[in-house]
Amino acid sequence: MPPSGAATQPRLIDFHAIGDHRGWLTPLEEHKEIPFSVKRVYVIHGTLPDISRGFHAHRDLEQVAICVAGQCTFVTDDGQQRQEFLLNSPNQGLYMKSMIWREMHHFSPDCVLVVLANRLYDPSDYVRDYAEFQRLVQGATA
Ligand code: TYD
Repeated sequence: MPPSGAATQPRLIDFHAIGDHRGWLTPLEEHKEIPFSVKRVYVIHGTLPDISRGFHAHRDLEQVAICVAGQCTFVTDDGQQRQEFLLNSPNQGLYMKSMIWREMHHFSPDCVLVVLANRLYDPSDYVRDYAEFQRLVQGATA
């Protein structure tokens, strides 16, 4: 048996970039490199200095975040374990399942963050209060 919560831990996915004399191309297909059907894509860019974003979890949403230019850091938290990930390559994506608290920090001025999601935007899917997030995840494992 995996340790409790292991199945929901965020993880980095390495993509395979195809190179030739022109440069590089990184293919991303649903249920291949991306472990779900992609319903929505959004792009975070032009982030101003000293700005952090996120500070929420999603009740029912899978996402892969890819920093296609520049870099930023993600802090993830499943209610028990906090992890920090540096995203700085179009050849890597951070996969997060539901009920992962995430914060994005240290955006470089040129950071372009592409996020793929398996559901359309739904404001009611957000948990924006950290104490409520902790209650929900502790309730789920109790
Ligand atoms: P928000 O969720 O606050 O961004 P962050 O990830 O930094 O917490 O989203 C900012 C605004 O963009 C807010 O008005 C909602 C809107 N939005 C959409 O319309 N569609 C989307 O897919 C997302 C992620 C946000």
